[in-house]
Amino acid sequence: MANNSQITSVLRETRTFAPNPTFSRTAHVGSMDQYRRLWESAKDDLAGFWAEQAKDLAWFKTWHTTLEWKAPHAKWFEGGLINASYNCLDRHLIAGQNNKAALIWEGEPGDTRTLTYQMLHREVCKFANGLKRLGVAKGDTITIYMPLVPELVIAMLACARLGAVHSVIFGGFSPEAVADRNNDSKSRILITADGGWRRGKTVPLKANVDLAMEKSLTIEKVIVLRRTGQDIVMKPGRDLWWHDLTAGLGGDCPAEPLDSEHPLFILYTSGSTGKPKGIYHTTGGYLLGAQYTHKLVFDIKPDDVYWCTADAGWITGHTYLVYGPLANATTIVMYEGAPNHPSEDRFWEIIAKYGVTVFYTAPTAIRAFMKWGDQHPKRHDLSSLRLLGSVGEPINPEAWMWYHETIGGGRCPIVDTWWQTETGAIMIAPLPGAVTTKPGSATFPLPGIVIDIVDKDGKTVGTNEGGFLVVTKPWPSMLRTLYRDDERYQKTYWDQHPGIYFTADGARRDEDGYIWIMGRVDDVLNVSGHRLSTMEVESALVQHKAVAEVAVVGKPDDLKGEGISCFVTLKTGIEATDVLKAELRDFVVQVIGALARPDEIRFTESLPKTRSGKIMRRLLRDIASGHQITGDTSTLEDYSILANLRSDQE
Ligand code: WT7
Repeated sequence: MANNSQITSVLRETRTFAPNPTFSRTAHVGSMDQYRRLWESAKDDLAGFWAEQAKDLAWFKTWHTTLEWKAPHAKWFEGGLINASYNCLDRHLIAGQNNKAALIWEGEPGDTRTLTYQMLHREVCKFANGLKRLGVAKGDTITIYMPLVPELVIAMLACARLGAVHSVIFGGFSPEAVADRNNDSKSRILITADGGWRRGKTVPLKANVDLAMEKSLTIEKVIVLRRTGQDIVMKPGRDLWWHDLTAGLGGDCPAEPLDSEHPLFILYTSGSTGKPKGIYHTTGGYLLGAQYTHKLVFDIKPDDVYWCTADAGWITGHTYLVYGPLANATTIVMYEGAPNHPSEDRFWEIIAKYGVTVFYTAPTAIRAFMKWGDQHPKRHDLSSLRLLGSVGEPINPEAWMWYHETIGGGRCPIVDTWWQTETGAIMIAPLPGAVTTKPGSATFPLPGIVIDIVDKDGKTVGTNEGGFLVVTKPWPSMLRTLYRDDERYQKTYWDQHPGIYFTADGARRDEDGYIWIMGRVDDVLNVSGHRLSTMEVESALVQHKAVAEVAVVGKPDDLKGEGISCFVTLKTGIEATDVLKAELRDFVVQVIGALARPDEIRFTESLPKTRSGKIMRRLLRDIASGHQITGDTSTLEDYSILANLRSDQE
């Protein structure tokens, strides 16, 4: 981060959307007054507030100390005994929800399965018994590298049941990435499948595992689920089939009472440089964060059919596909494959088919849907939807409006949810029955969450001034450390402002106190002494009717410090011409001002993204400045994009 920490904010969005009174009447939090009272009371007594919320979970033994905070290390609900798997399953059976659908699953080829809470409980117990058979015990680490099938959820909950720590690796990762993570986590067992389906082809998961095993030092056994039926090699003594392991096992396996601070999982995030960070989450606090935020932000009701499109390989999948919704006894929809297989309307078909009421996805997906055209959603009945969510990146006002109108039919509130793998659960988001939304703003922190926007000295910045987003008080679902690297934990998150959590995101508060996330601080541009958020220039450009998606980066400029370089993908059918380039430059000047006039516009077919859909701006910076790409590219989704970008420029 450069010496001057203030970020000049240049975008102003004036549209507002008040909650619908009918929605508010039945909402968990139904007015701004109620939200404010809750937030204030929580802030005055954080421990008391969270202790009260924690009563919504089932504890085997109540804690004696709600919070022990020796910055930067927190312990929540010490003395308490709890089990996440029990909270997601057993207690719902006791409450008579046996026959409620827990999981409605659809495979990419169109095969479907529905598991009730009873059935899910039985499968989890059986598999947990299978793990026990292999000697798995409390504290062991287990890697899960699977397609998005019910057994992925079953495996996670079976680990949690025994107190084994899961490390889920997204099925799109390479053998090297799997081996690195196996070795770092010292995982004993790896659970995989023969393959999974993606865009009509199979992903060779087991073959990848075979390669990863050549470099994995600690894995003893590999459990293989038969999913695609493709040919694979089973190594005798090491590999065993899921169905053989569980054959004849009973469907009863008591959940282990675990200390609240017992680890639940490690999840590796790639970070922009250096080796992946093992984000370390524990049981009681994490589960509370997941359950509480899922209920409030999505305003969950017993009849909801809830679909979070994230893969369980990401934190969004952990918290809002598995632990949050299942802890709330929600019916979840889970879909294995790509949104454009067999055609671009697959998601809308699924929503109509199952009557999805709450839909949670990412801006990168929303922009792809916009690019593919309105005819796809228009073909389907989306009237079951009552609430929409967004996560992962700032959502441009343009995409927000499209989501609101074309998917939400103008009637569904949108919750733009800001959080991180590290925070474990949503931190900033509108409570949909209470908060008037503004397109592009994540609005306000949730009750129990205390944040600030500060300069480099930790001083609160003024209205509409950009600064660092920080969290000033501990919260239950916060990461506890980086696995086996507490020093890096302290350096990465706590050294900037002692005792205060550094998010590495820029943000501003507007005159009404609304929070606008401005993207990662390393992405900020420095143009003639003005620090501009790349996200704001991108948001301006996507308002142009020809533009589908944009990534803005700085390139060295002798005069201005940095020039503005824009990588633009155009909507289907639009021709890339020099005239259009000039028009787009002028357009930015119109929307933002001469300060932000792009120095260059480059048209490209697609943008380099991480496998979770985030634009990799640092790679584009290298391209814009004519450098070799030096940084880590292991998280890149599609390598051919880089080659194309380079050849486009030559
Ligand atoms: C980073 C965290 C949170 C789960 C998925 C990503 C960006 C996330 C928003 C949002 C603006 C957002 C931030 C954050 N981000 N949500 N609603 N508005 N930016 O988890 O991979 O740990 O990434 O994603 O930059 O720091 P992650």
